[in-house]
Amino acid sequence: MTILVTGGTGTVGSHVVANLAAAGQDTRVLTRSPEKAAALPNGVTGAIGALSEPSTLGPAFEGVDRLFLLTPLAQDEVAQGLAGIEAARAAGVRRIVFMSVHKAADAPQIPHFRTKVEIAQGLERSGLPYTVIEPNSFYQNDVWVQQPLVDFGVYPHPLGSVGLNRVDVRDIAAAAVAALTDDGHEGEHYPVVGPDICTGEGTAQAWGAALGSGVIYAGDDLDAWAQAASAMMPDWLVADLRIMYGDFQARGLLASDDDFARQRRILGRDPIPFDRFAAEVAATWKTQATGA
Ligand SMILES: NC(=O)c1ccc[n+]([C@@H]2O[C@H](COP(=O)([O-])OP(=O)(O)OC[C@H]3O[C@@H](n4cnc5c(N)ncnc54)[C@H](OP(=O)(O)O)[C@@H]3O)[C@@H](O)[C@H]2O)c1
Repeated sequence: MTILVTGGTGTVGSHVVANLAAAGQDTRVLTRSPEKAAALPNGVTGAIGALSEPSTLGPAFEGVDRLFLLTPLAQDEVAQGLAGIEAARAAGVRRIVFMSVHKAADAPQIPHFRTKVEIAQGLERSGLPYTVIEPNSFYQNDVWVQQPLVDFGVYPHPLGSVGLNRVDVRDIAAAAVAALTDDGHEGEHYPVVGPDICTGEGTAQAWGAALGSGVIYAGDDLDAWAQAASAMMPDWLVADLRIMYGDFQARGLLASDDDFARQRRILGRDPIPFDRFAAEVAATWKTQATGA
């Protein structure tokens, strides 16, 4: 049985690939990059292609039985997702696990949440057996802000004060692999959420504890956030994430008791708490800094 992973060189997908390879699954990764294909873990095959260029997908999908479909943040994300589904249908893929976002349907005003709903609708229309995993905001987004955290003692993501049940990407990967390899998950939508309610202030405090230094929250000013972010990402993405952070500030992204119960059916264990993640990352950063 061959499992194809899209996004397999990225934050979530690299953990999916590592877990599949460790479980002895025949694993293939779709990537645009020959260099990334050459750096895949032992035994994992790279297939060069792009969801944004459907003509490249035929050879990559040939002989594939199951697909982990992760779509990148992109202006043509829906077209990319639908191209992946069509390539899967043409190749006779028998199971698709699609990664959406927690409560995507509740926030259609956020462009990259609405795209996930449209791709999931495409999956349903395809008639192919599928499972959708719906992760909350990743803990690992904080790895991008190492410099403000470590050099300036500032936590810059404008999460607000309602809070989110953010999640470790290792839990997302574990849920994805269970949905790909275990039976009984067809047609299900699984939230993937962490145990803690993460606010801006609370996350700054947790980083302070992990780093052993004072960390303050930069606050809820979305104009200031957008100005800083525009140095690192395109305007369309700044606009999309600004709407998302505004929604987080207004409503949060909280998990219900039912979300935790449904998650347990796929994860089978407690999710990783934020302070464990932060302590592990802080230890890595300290090791880097000392060159040990
Ligand atoms: N960050 C969060 O908190 C969060 C929460 C919930 C959901 N999400 C969703 O997570 C997804 C992003 O996942 P991630 O952060 O793991 O990804 P990532 O680290 O940003 O990596 C992007 C991946 O997409 C691949 N890719 C980019 N363009 C492609 C194309 N045209 N065709 C095929 N593959 C392409 C890249 O592969 P190559 O470079 O090797 O080609 C890479 O593996 C988005 O859909 C986002 O909405 C994010």
